[in-house]
Amino acid sequence: MNVLTRTWEKLAARELEKSRETAERRWRPKFHAAPPVGWLNDPNGLCQYQGVYHAFYQYSPFDVKGGLKFWAHCTSRDLLHWSFEGTALAPDEPFDCHGVYSGSALVENGQMVLYYTGNVKQAGDYDYIHTGRESNTVCAAGADGFHFDGKKLLMTNQDYPEDLTCHVRDPKVWKQDGRYYMVQGARTAEDKGVVLVFESEDGLDWKYRSRLETEEPFGFMWECPDLYEVDGRTVLSISPQGVEADGLRYNNVYQSVTVFLEEDFRTGKVNGKFRELDAGFDFYAPQSFAAEDGRRIQIGWMGMPDAEEYYTNRTVEDGWQHTLTLPRELSVRDGILCQNPVRELDAWWNVFTPFENTYSETPGDCFELELTEIGESVRLTLAGGLLLSWKKEEGIFWMEFTDKKLGAGRTRRGRRTEKLTDLRVIVDVSCVEVFLNGGKDVFSTRFYPDTEGISARLQAPGSRGRLCLHKEKK
Ligand code: FRU
Repeated sequence: MNVLTRTWEKLAARELEKSRETAERRWRPKFHAAPPVGWLNDPNGLCQYQGVYHAFYQYSPFDVKGGLKFWAHCTSRDLLHWSFEGTALAPDEPFDCHGVYSGSALVENGQMVLYYTGNVKQAGDYDYIHTGRESNTVCAAGADGFHFDGKKLLMTNQDYPEDLTCHVRDPKVWKQDGRYYMVQGARTAEDKGVVLVFESEDGLDWKYRSRLETEEPFGFMWECPDLYEVDGRTVLSISPQGVEADGLRYNNVYQSVTVFLEEDFRTGKVNGKFRELDAGFDFYAPQSFAAEDGRRIQIGWMGMPDAEEYYTNRTVEDGWQHTLTLPRELSVRDGILCQNPVRELDAWWNVFTPFENTYSETPGDCFELELTEIGESVRLTLAGGLLLSWKKEEGIFWMEFTDKKLGAGRTRRGRRTEKLTDLRVIVDVSCVEVFLNGGKDVFSTRFYPDTEGISARLQAPGSRGRLCLHKEKK
């Protein structure tokens, strides 16, 4: 550990102590991971190691609006309750001094190896797109899953293809057929988003192998790629920047989409249709991992970069900003990648109130409202100002803030939904995630109720459902 590492650790711990003394607890979720202080963005290094779930995330402890990035670390045994474990990686080397950017974890041979991008902005008059930025690929290993010493610089800009800008980042690494593979997001000099595929025999010495791209550009940069198998399909997940809004689609500043790859990822192209992973306001840069029981679990950043012009987060007043989404189990049904809350959540609810057609209570600030039968329409108002609605004749599911302050500037999002067979609305203090039709469509948003408890008023003639709560056992 060098003197810079020790100094950063001390300063980050001091920031945490200060926040413990003054912290406002309002709007802190109960089962979504959130930073104790400062700013959170992308989930990183997701894995299960020796039975324990580990999630790291992009963390700026000193600035609630972002800034110099560290990896924060948190652990969980049930994917719902997360303990903050401090900072795992700090910007403390010449090759990562302007940010330990996003990446992934590889669990193998009694080690957890973290791969990430070391961001360096050279001093001078640069645009930091075409010149002036180093995007270094770095790894650090730890046998206990908590301490990562001996960072190794694996690749620099010289190791990437020549037709790219300096924007190359976010390595996702996995092992397949006895070899190691890595995908990274990149922006070409012609402003086209692409995914680079690298290959290695030992996880240390990497060679560029091929790229995944569309014929026509789909945005100028693809961030945070992920590539995995679910139910026999190969999924490419990317977070593109620069995609134009198209009717109800692509209405956020940036997007997160998936596409099924029909050919081998090492040789093939991206031919299929992209599908947005989330139709709400707050979802970006998702990553996935394989749990020890074989489930493919995805976690996203429940936030949006560069959205301040449109909407904000009222927790900034309290010195922290953003959360991760609930971990979601991935599956493929009817040719669609489905996301559903991890089954640990179903097991956690222990008080159930069935209802038919209507429901109108203030059940608390953490609950799930579930509809298992649905008629011709649904109108659910949360906290008096977040309306979730659907009418069969219109065939669109809407998430709409009728109270401006509640949504802190968020307005309306919709998704074409001809049929609505089931609905799950999960509320956790300031986080709302809505799952439609067995997880085929999802809407995520933050909201900021000023009341004690969150009201739920439902009118859905012909429906059946239940309200789920967790009560501590005495
Ligand atoms: C996505 C992203 C990544 C980058 C990280 C930096 O939100 O821009 O591409 O590694 O955030 O915090």
